[in-house]
Amino acid sequence: MEKSLVLVKPDAMERQLAGAIIGRLQAEGLKLIALKMLHMDKAMAERHYAVHKGKSFFEDTIAYITSTPIVAAAFKGEDAIAHIRKVMGATDPSKAAPGTIRKDYGLDIQRNSTHASDSPENGEIEIANFFTKKEIFG
Ligand code: CMP
Repeated sequence: MEKSLVLVKPDAMERQLAGAIIGRLQAEGLKLIALKMLHMDKAMAERHYAVHKGKSFFEDTIAYITSTPIVAAAFKGEDAIAHIRKVMGATDPSKAAPGTIRKDYGLDIQRNSTHASDSPENGEIEIANFFTKKEIFG
């Protein structure tokens, strides 16, 4: 069993898509084990995107993810990392496969509606940045 953090990003929050996105992942058989709405501060966003520090898009990505409240969720399932990434589609919505969340909802590479963890190790680390042990039910 793997765990992944999922974020519903500002572009999707502004279009009231949080429920649709969480629902699509639940309908895939992934188990929702944690959920909250929050407004990330800069320090939390920099921890979350630490692996991208120094890249050209880092500062813009921090400004974007802290621009509005977001929804954070944790999902659990067999091969949850690969499963969720497949359902979400490519980072760049213009390259995402038909029927994926980012193809359906994403606007561009920054405003791509969702984030998901890219490995089981990062899943554990990212979930711990958003949820206390008591807030995780699974
Ligand atoms: P995410 O999966 O949250 O991880 C890093 C984020 O940086 C990515 O989604 C995009 O929203 C954002 N980003 C902006 N520009 C780029 C880029 N050129 N390559 C990758 N990610 C980018």
